[in-house]
Amino acid sequence: MPTPVLEFDEVRKRFAPDRLVLDGLRLEVLPGETVALVGPSGCGKTTALKLANRLLEPDGGVVRVFGRPAAEQEPVALRRRIGFVIQEGGLFPHWTVRENVEAVPRLLGWTPERRRERSDAMLATVGLPAGAFAPRRPASLSGGERQRVGVARALAAAPSLVLMDEPFGALDPIARREMQKEFLAWRTRWDAAVLLVTHDLGEAFRLADRVAVMASGRIRQVGPPDTLRREPADAFVREFVSEFLA
Ligand SMILES: Nc1ncnc2c1ncn2[C@@H]1O[C@H](COP(=O)(O)OP(=O)(O)OP(=O)(O)O)[C@@H](O)[C@H]1O
Ligand SMILES: [Mg+2]
Repeated sequence: MPTPVLEFDEVRKRFAPDRLVLDGLRLEVLPGETVALVGPSGCGKTTALKLANRLLEPDGGVVRVFGRPAAEQEPVALRRRIGFVIQEGGLFPHWTVRENVEAVPRLLGWTPERRRERSDAMLATVGLPAGAFAPRRPASLSGGERQRVGVARALAAAPSLVLMDEPFGALDPIARREMQKEFLAWRTRWDAAVLLVTHDLGEAFRLADRVAVMASGRIRQVGPPDTLRREPADAFVREFVSEFLA
């Protein structure tokens, strides 16, 4: 088996002595694979993503990124190699849309021409033409537009690992479908490992190679969409899946 790009190995995380959020999390994302992480609100999905790029540190177990323990990798350098779409968009408010999208390419020392070419292409991909959107600041955008700039920014430097936390959550159903189509089109051109958190199981089933259902700080089942539908591992997964298919 190829070395996972991201691996949670029996990871534990607690925020208070009596509040164990991750309780032996095991999950792998292989090169070129999209894994969707689904589960009830508060079950620890965002916490897991933050452990992957060292915004948080585990209390037990090991998080491995690019084949090495994340704990041994310098956090800033690690984050430059990981595309991260955060749940609330997370744009730099005083920067223009273009400056936001070019943030990592700039840190990586790309020339202005190369950065501009990439930011134009990424903005077009997320349906925000640079001519109209590049000079604007986040405060002047709608929530859905901000979220799309967040996606363009996370993917701008073509990272080999992408963490996406509800990347399309603020979009209306039509724009959401459009972005899902774009996502599937990018996936054919570029083989990053993607861990995608979503509340929308339909989205998970459309976009992911494997879906991981999480509850009470552990993965209850992980497998291709069809396996979850046909052979849910337990009553929780059966109910979780059936609710979204109804
Ligand atoms: N910094 C923190 N301090 C204390 N508790 C925290 C902290 N961050 C998260 N938690 C708690 O840990 C639990 C898991 O939070 P997390 O954000 O990972 O959930 P989630 O699965 O992403 O939920 P949602 O689907 O609502 O985004 C929640 O109960 C949350 O209140
Ligand atoms: Mg969350």
